Amino acid sequence: MTDLAGRVAIVTAAGSGIGRAAALTLSRAGAAVACVDLKPDTGEATRRDIAAAGGKALAVPCDAREGAQVAAMVERVVAAWGRIDILVNGVGGGQRAASILEISEEAWEGMLRLNLTSAFLCCKAVLPTMLMQGYGRIVNVASIAGRSMSTLQGAHYTAAKAGLLGLTRHLARDVAGRGITVNAVAPGPIATERILSSLDPQEKERLLARSPMGRLGTPEEVAAAVAFLASPEASFVSGATLDVNGTMLML
Ligand SMILES: NC(=O)c1ccc[n+]([C@@H]2O[C@H](COP(=O)([O-])OP(=O)(O)OC[C@H]3O[C@@H](n4cnc5c(N)ncnc54)[C@H](OP(=O)(O)O)[C@@H]3O)[C@@H](O)[C@H]2O)c1
Repeated sequence: MTDLAGRVAIVTAAGSGIGRAAALTLSRAGAAVACVDLKPDTGEATRRDIAAAGGKALAVPCDAREGAQVAAMVERVVAAWGRIDILVNGVGGGQRAASILEISEEAWEGMLRLNLTSAFLCCKAVLPTMLMQGYGRIVNVASIAGRSMSTLQGAHYTAAKAGLLGLTRHLARDVAGRGITVNAVAPGPIATERILSSLDPQEKERLLARSPMGRLGTPEEVAAAVAFLASPEASFVSGATLDVNGTMLML
């Protein structure tokens, strides 16, 4: 495992699922982790687990869709630890829709704000610090949906995640040569509590039948990919998307 001792990480959506696994994995590698989540108690639960394992963590409640809250969150982390080495943009999520005709304008805007604008706001807020340091690792949690299309969620989710991959590439080139890398992971279906509880038995069976490995991925498997991209060793990898989908989609 990479050594992240002395590094400071911000992980959004750290209260559950992939974000929580990423926060725990980065902490095990030695990073101090700011656990950012919408509700105070969820980020706090991850912070407690990190602290119980001997790690350093801070819980910062924040709605990543709101620029003022994101700026205050980043200020708080810098005030506490003086730097930001890693940003993992985990905030996101889908919404079922069989057809684009079912998607209201409001739902479309909300989906873009949750999956794309939140990452834009967090990147913008950490970049001045990373540029000053001449070091940074940004990892955006996209989806197989953004590489192809979502079979579970609506077109607004697919479009938002494809947009996140575009932001990843553009920003990577913008900061190339400044010690900062920007990458994405694109998970296939992952066995998070949210996904498991949203699938009925037939849907789960159909999903497993489409998985060449015959199973869903785990949050820890995505977190391992995040940790690689967040490591100092991944210094020549930027603008890339790392697929974590058990060969469900190969490009
Ligand atoms: N699970 C999958 O199969 C899968 C596959 C591909 C990609 N992804 C992507 O991976 C990321 C994480 O997904 P997940 O399934 O692990 O999610 P999850 O288990 O639903 O966890 C998301 C966490 O983020 C919090 N959150 C929601 N809105 C927020 C906001 N505006 N600001 C801050 N925190 C917020 C949630 O709080 P509340 O619970 O209070 O809402 C929750 O604690 C998402 O971007 C998702 O699109 C997931």
